Amino acid sequence: MPILGIETSCDETCAAVVEDGRRVRASVVASQVDLHRKYGGVVPEIASRAHLEALVPVIDEALAEAGLAADALEAVAVVHRPGLIGSLLLGLAAAKTLAWVEEKPLLGIDHVESHIYAACLERTAPVFPCVALVVSGGHTSLYRCDGPLEQTRLGATTDDAAGEAFDKVAALLGLPYPGGPSIDAAAAHGSPRAVPFSRPWLDREAFDFSFSGVKTAVLYHVRGQGADAKRRRTALSEAEVADVAASFQECVVDVLVGKTVRAADACGLDRVVLGGGVAANRRLRERMQQAAEEVGLDLVLPEPRFCTDNAAMVAGLACHRLRAGRVDALDLEARA
Ligand code: KG4
Ligand code: ZN
Repeated sequence: MPILGIETSCDETCAAVVEDGRRVRASVVASQVDLHRKYGGVVPEIASRAHLEALVPVIDEALAEAGLAADALEAVAVVHRPGLIGSLLLGLAAAKTLAWVEEKPLLGIDHVESHIYAACLERTAPVFPCVALVVSGGHTSLYRCDGPLEQTRLGATTDDAAGEAFDKVAALLGLPYPGGPSIDAAAAHGSPRAVPFSRPWLDREAFDFSFSGVKTAVLYHVRGQGADAKRRRTALSEAEVADVAASFQECVVDVLVGKTVRAADACGLDRVVLGGGVAANRRLRERMQQAAEEVGLDLVLPEPRFCTDNAAMVAGLACHRLRAGRVDALDLEARA
């Protein structure tokens, strides 16, 4: 039976219809990138207002693409944590309204858990048990996952998330917003060995991460020791920008791949899953693939469109919560 998913935790208004937790019948994503570009980052108030305008058309489009009327849905699922509070409230209000009017069960979904679940979409081979690396704009965490609803966190970033570091380094280098895909594109023309940024915490046994130092290292490399992040960018040639982008990216990828492989070994698991926007990064995918082949790990890489924020992962995970009877009441709250 089809479940409608709604995702509005940050700056993308998303709705999707997923059947049996895996088959994606529709996945609609309305990006707000154009609205936030001139500010160089997501402005929460603007994000909330844009969700308000986009939500009904996006839900209508998802239902139309799936060829369904709302009364044919089995349930309505929505991300209610974590995220920008105003953005979450909009999605939650829409989901509650639909669930109430159509008399369907409401399922509240955790955004990070849904990023892990993205690996299950359109896949028939097993995904669990596995070690999952979630790398997004807000999170960099490693989990041991014994099932879609059973995660144990092994470690997480103690400061910046990997995606946040990508975005800030891109801004420093004068690359266009949003930064992650810009670094990915610029790095393709540079040398990953041009600047030997030190690999933060790679040799520590714990599964925690830290990316704020490498961001500062890029700043000092570009503008000199003691530089102020607010000062204007020093002119770098296109080739120099590509080299710094590739070297920064390689540094982050080394740490992510190294810790993930070690976590799989520590847990005695031979399957690894990636999720979150940074999992769309081509170099990370390539290096993870190489590492998995070297040590004999089964690697599950979601399609890039299911790595960045989307509602298919939300509707998919909701199927398991519904089967487990973990339904929410209409007083479900949003958590920032
Ligand atoms: O999962 P996501 O769409 O939203 C959050 O939950 O945060 O992740 C967004 C993050 C942003 O920081 C964005 O720059 C990064 O994912 N990202 C990438 C790429 N595509 C998106 N980072 C590196 N390479 C990419 N190709
Ligand atoms: Zn996300």
